[in-house]
Amino acid sequence: MKILGISCGRKMSNSEILVKEALMGAEEAGAEVELIRLHDLTLKPCTGCNACVINLFEKCGAGECVIKDDDFAFIDEKIMECDGLIIGSPIYEKSPSGLLKILNDRMGPSHDVAFRMIAKQMREERGITTGKGPDERSFKTRAASLIAVGGSEWDNLALPMMHLFALSLQINVVDKMLVNWVGLPGAIVFKEDALAKARKSGKHVAESLKKPAEQMEFIGEQGLCPICHSKLVEVREDNKNFPAICGICGVRGTLNMVDNKVTFTIADEDRAHSHVLLSGKFGHAAELKEVSLKPNPKINELPERLAKYRSYLTYSKPER
Ligand SMILES: Cc1cc2nc3c(=O)[nH]c(=O)nc-3n(C[C@H](O)[C@H](O)[C@H](O)COP(=O)(O)O)c2cc1C
Repeated sequence: MKILGISCGRKMSNSEILVKEALMGAEEAGAEVELIRLHDLTLKPCTGCNACVINLFEKCGAGECVIKDDDFAFIDEKIMECDGLIIGSPIYEKSPSGLLKILNDRMGPSHDVAFRMIAKQMREERGITTGKGPDERSFKTRAASLIAVGGSEWDNLALPMMHLFALSLQINVVDKMLVNWVGLPGAIVFKEDALAKARKSGKHVAESLKKPAEQMEFIGEQGLCPICHSKLVEVREDNKNFPAICGICGVRGTLNMVDNKVTFTIADEDRAHSHVLLSGKFGHAAELKEVSLKPNPKINELPERLAKYRSYLTYSKPER
């Protein structure tokens, strides 16, 4: 069992120390561990070319990213190889480090388990034997712990956005940990309780991997969403039937007060739409095919309709 730690923070500082503590816990439970600091890698942002999705859906290929002049292939291989992940990030502007978002965008659609399953199935149905299909390791059962650390309590989007990283690969998030009021480099070493919690978290990831996915237990704060434990639920006034939507897994439900406590209730028939479930991912894949990737019937008019925007303004850029 291999557990990969990814630190998005400063060298030998708070995120890295918490990740290392968690990896020590994972080692205690018998895991082989490895650490990557995202700052050591060059990761270019997704350009939105959609080549990965087109490759999966149209060519039944591997869904690889076409950007090759950076370290994405390196971290992709490490993630494919691992069984468990410990992700630690500093909180910047209430969210995790932008480096993690860059990685998330690069991994997102291209590694979506449902997209890869569809490509694999179409490949088999069409009898395609040439070229590479989706990496079989995409379908492994994985577990992860998410650790966010910040210098204040400006933290609302940190863990939710870190959880998004786990969605497309269908990684079971078995713990989430938030540490506030740790701003100075390395100051986390004085917070014995947080270090102990991180160690327990890493051990729990390793112990979880010894069980089938359905028996893995979430040990973090329960939150409002009964499916993904998100504390972030958005009120959607535009939708009368489902006025609330989970900020992580997108499941729709209603917010109610029960015994002076806010609850987020999801109808049984709506549970399947949660994006942490395979059913929700297949639903999303079908929506893309039917709506956003479906050519517009007026596609022939596209060049003419674009002309007015093409000729309007030039780009302001720094001189190189
Ligand atoms: C650009 C920037 C923005 C930050 N924004 C927040 C914030 O919104 N909330 C917070 O709690 N801490 C914030 N911090 C503090 C860091 O999260 C904190 O110093 C953390 O310990 C850094 O992690 P590291 O030691 O692993 O690098 C910010 C720091 C920087 C540099």
